[in-house]
Order: sequence, then C-alpha cells, then structure tokens
Amino acid sequence: MEKYSKKFVALHWIHALILLFLLIGASLNLPDLPEVSGDLKPFKMHIIIGVVAIFLLISRLILVTKEPKFKLYDNSKEILVKWNHRLIYLVILITGASGIAMAKISNLGEVAVFGAEQKIYSGKSDTVELFANIHDISTKILIALIAMHIIGVVLYTIQTKKKIIKRMWF
Ligand code: HEM
Ligand code: HEM
Repeated sequence: MEKYSKKFVALHWIHALILLFLLIGASLNLPDLPEVSGDLKPFKMHIIIGVVAIFLLISRLILVTKEPKFKLYDNSKEILVKWNHRLIYLVILITGASGIAMAKISNLGEVAVFGAEQKIYSGKSDTVELFANIHDISTKILIALIAMHIIGVVLYTIQTKKKIIKRMWF
C-alpha cells in the first residue's frame, strides 16, 4: 500500500492530538470571555496552543501538495472523502482566524499572553462577540467533520478490509 511521507504522518497525528486537546479542553474548561473585566489568565494556554495549531495547519497545507494522490475509493466516496478533508482544513482556518480576531480586537492576547495591563482589555464589544460566535460555531462544525472522518475510516476498514490506517502510519 502506498503511504504518506513520514513527515506528513507525524504532522497528522501531532495536529490531531493538539486539536482534540483544544476542542475538548476548551469546551469543558474554558470560561466565556468576560463582558467587561475579569481574569484573563485561563485563556493564555488556549491562545498559545491555538496559534501552534494554526502554524501546523499552514505547514500541512504546504506539505500536502507534495504528497502522493491516492486512488482507493470509488468515485462517490472519493468526492465525499476529498470534501471532508478540504472542509477540515478550511474550518480549522476559520476557527483559528476568528480566535485571533477576537484576541486582537479586545487586546486579550496582549493581556493574557504578553502580560500587558488588565485595563487595556476592551471587553466583549459587538465585534468581539461576533467573532466569538463564529469561533463557537466553527468549533462545533469541526467536531462534526472530525467525527465523520474517524467514523468513515473505521467503517471503510470494516467494510472493505483494506487497512487504510497503514497509509497514515510510519
Ligand atoms: C483531530 C483529529 C483528526 C484530524 C483533524 C484529521 C484530519 C485528516 C485530514 C485533513 C486528512 C487528509 C490528509 C490529506 O490532505 O490527504 C486525514 C487523513 C487520514 N486520517 Fe485523519 N484526522 C484526525 C484524526 C484521525 C484519527 C483518529 C484517525 C484514525 C481512525 C485518522 C485516520 C486517517 C487516515 C487513515 C487518513 C488517510 C485517509 C486517506 O488517505 O484517504 N485520522 N486526516
Ligand atoms: C484551531 C485552533 C482552535 C480551536 C480548535 C479552538 C477551540 C475552541 C473551543 C472549543 C472553544 C469553546 C467554545 C465554546 O464552548 O463556547 C474556544 C473558545 C475560545 N477560544 Fe479557541 N480555539 C482555537 C484557536 C484559538 C485562538 C488562536 C485563539 C486566540 C488567539 C482562541 C481564543 C478563544 C477564546 C477567547 C475563546 C472564548 C470565547 C468565548 O467567550 O465565547 N482560540 N476555542
């Protein structure tokens, strides 16, 4: 069976772990952004790891163009799989960009990551709220796409007995 390169495989699994950590960790533990003022420390780790996830996405988008193009699925499945992958990349981008917009506009990043004075945090203005909503919705779409991806891999393996996981392993 043809395989993805070792570099791409490593990136897939590191990125998967980081995204799951962000999605599960933030859904369970991250408080809502304070309306006016409040403790911004809980956001520090999320922002730093979120930015790492964006850099990993960019590396992946660059590397994917050099990976082999597999033809394993029949045509209708091929289109579904391709769009699932494309949408995963796109939605990670929207999630990351909306997070950065929120942090930039409200000065959350300056305060929580770089230790600037709390008073420069501008609170949850309408624009910040808009990006928070985009961030929230896109994370839910991402969870659904990842669930489809994992269920798809498992079902395909059971139905066809082709171990596609080997393509994404070292
Ligand atoms: C956060 C979790 C995950 C994300 C975001 C993710 C994302 C992706 C993406 C975007 C691709 C396409 C690579 C390309 O562009 O060609 C891919 C391929 C693949 N992933 Fe995942 N993945 C995740 C978790 C998993 C898990 C848990 C499994 C194991 C069940 C898995 C198995 C695979 C396999 C086997 C492929 C190759 C499929 C093929 O070539 O058709 N992934 N993944
Ligand atoms: C692609 C990477 C990212 C993922 C998967 C992710 C995921 C999440 C999730 C699941 C939540 C909780 C949503 C909710 O339950 O309402 C959240 C909230 C939040 N995220 Fe991210 N995030 C990412 C990147 C970022 C980045 C880069 C920043 C900032 C630079 C950021 C800033 C925030 C903030 C401020 C909140 C709280 C929003 C609110 O009060 O509604 N995130 N994120």
